[in-house]
Amino acid sequence: MPVLLTRRDGAVEYVTLNRPEVRNAFNEPLIAALRTWADAVAGDRSVRVAVLAGAGTTFCAGADLEWMSKLSACTRDENVRDATAAAGMFGALDRLPVPVIGRIHGAALGGGAGLAAVCDVVVADEHAQFGFTEVKLGILPSMISPFVLAKIGQSAARELFLTGMRVDAARAREIGLVHAVVAADALDATVSQYVQEFLSAGPEAIATAKELIRKVAGRAPQDVLQLTAETLAARRASAEGREGMKAFFEKRKPTWNANR
Ligand code: COA
Repeated sequence: MPVLLTRRDGAVEYVTLNRPEVRNAFNEPLIAALRTWADAVAGDRSVRVAVLAGAGTTFCAGADLEWMSKLSACTRDENVRDATAAAGMFGALDRLPVPVIGRIHGAALGGGAGLAAVCDVVVADEHAQFGFTEVKLGILPSMISPFVLAKIGQSAARELFLTGMRVDAARAREIGLVHAVVAADALDATVSQYVQEFLSAGPEAIATAKELIRKVAGRAPQDVLQLTAETLAARRASAEGREGMKAFFEKRKPTWNANR
């Protein structure tokens, strides 16, 4: 069975972690498959939204601990190479120009919670558990830390990274890791609502907004003044920007949303 399942429905790409027997824990093939998938989606203009989910009872149990213990016997260079591949995979997902919706059920732990952090919107089953459990195992959430910190900030990271405790979906929402907490039977409908929101927005505008968030985060307003002014100026003058505003005054849907 492939470790990653993909399915296209129009402009929506569904990707599912598929190692349910180990709760979709990451090993080398899964990391490589996710990276290949992310690179393909980044270059495919027909994809407008991606939905990331896990097969079986759990979204993702983080790094595969059997594989991690094997790695502990490898050389430092081998370990660095391997960790770099994982970091590259998280970075590639984080930088995808299309919005990514995380569909979380069961648990998102360690790197699984890291995957949630690189999603743009996370919809969680109310019974899902979240945690950066690495310190309980004597390791730490390292490669995911930049993405997680960008989402939850230092205060929550100090609590959760340093205790390794597990929290429920409501708490994950409080700290900004999750955006919607719903009953299990409402998970797919809520994901679909977000899909529709994304499909009704200009794809280039979304991609530019996503990139802008990354560039502006943590910088002083005066340092990004030029960047923000130029970004909007370019968008206004773009075909997509002109079409969006024209459609508003003509009381019709813009072309990217016309057949829906
Ligand atoms: N790596 C490797 N195998 C894992 C795994 C991981 N991260 N997480 C779970 N598994 C395996 C278990 O060893 C078990 O294997 P077995 O059937 O051969 O005994 C199988 O997956 C099912 O796990 P189990 O704990 O029985 O499933 P569950 O549905 O009751 O609980 C979790 C699921 C995810 C809550 C639980 O497995 C868990 O807490 N895993 C550890 C998560 C973690 O700390 N990850 C951080 C890694 S850095």
